[in-house]
Amino acid sequence: MTVTDTTTPVAAASHGAPILQARGVTMRFGGLTAVKDVDMTVNEGEIVGLIGPNGAGKTTFFNCLTGLYKPTEGEVTLMGSVIPPRPRAVVIAGMARTFQNIRLFANMTALENVMVGRYCRTSSMALTSILRGPKFRREEAETRARAQELLDFVGLGKSAEHLARNMPYGDQRRLEIARALATDPKLILLDEPTAGMNPQETRQASDLIFKIRDSGLAVVVIEHDMRFIFNLCDRVLCLVRGEVLVEGTPAEVQSDPRVIEAYIGGGDDDESDESDESSDLGPATTTEVSE
Ligand SMILES: Nc1ncnc2c1ncn2[C@@H]1O[C@H](COP(=O)(O)OP(=O)(O)OP(=O)(O)O)[C@@H](O)[C@H]1O
Ligand SMILES: [Mg+2]
Repeated sequence: MTVTDTTTPVAAASHGAPILQARGVTMRFGGLTAVKDVDMTVNEGEIVGLIGPNGAGKTTFFNCLTGLYKPTEGEVTLMGSVIPPRPRAVVIAGMARTFQNIRLFANMTALENVMVGRYCRTSSMALTSILRGPKFRREEAETRARAQELLDFVGLGKSAEHLARNMPYGDQRRLEIARALATDPKLILLDEPTAGMNPQETRQASDLIFKIRDSGLAVVVIEHDMRFIFNLCDRVLCLVRGEVLVEGTPAEVQSDPRVIEAYIGGGDDDESDESDESSDLGPATTTEVSE
């Protein structure tokens, strides 16, 4: 389905067939097992949350799903087909992502950044581009129009000509989402989409993710902001030391003492100060969500 700028809120997401299935995904770096035997299913119309202390393996798991890493073991299928572990193949198959550390083309405009995302769906191959014939010009115009539509969709319509590097941080995160949407995905994976955002921007990010879901995409989101996750997601998986500790509804996960303990423990005890940041994810934030 296509993302359009018309929002028709879906009161309760009707969850359909599985879109993504990860089975037994394991990723080892030398002696370190960053992801261990993780299973995850994402169904049509679902927003799935992935939480866990710093260093739990969340980003590594995303990297395994999106072909950045070839898992040491396990298999990932999208709509029933095994995806070759290569980023381009994954995007073509219908999975798009954003990055924990924003990866935009800093010296390109917002519009150009989104247009780049679109090129995987256009047929303009090298020769067509060099010849710049009518087909190239038509596709270029369509790509430009679609990119503007997506900027409007994420609320950046007026920033089309701004250089990415000059945009506020929160806008850069939304721009990355627009670029991911430009690939026409069935599923979008968001790695800490609200990192660095203020509360108002975080609420807007929530609304945007609901809007993306309502347009027909499934969403997987990594976040440390528990209020955000528990209000947004249909289902939540908590990873600890590379393994799924708990999976359930937001209500189940937030009240599970093992999850609170995992955050108090700060992940790997014996792993230096990398886990310092987990203090702001502690039980206060975890338990204050009452809905
Ligand atoms: N390319 C790599 N080579 C070696 N070790 C890695 C590599 N990528 C990640 N790791 C290690 O794997 C573990 C999991 O890291 P990962 O970045 O997936 O955690 P995370 O859950 O995303 O943490 P955070 O919440 O801080 O983003 C960490 O111990 C990390 O140091
Ligand atoms: Mg991470």
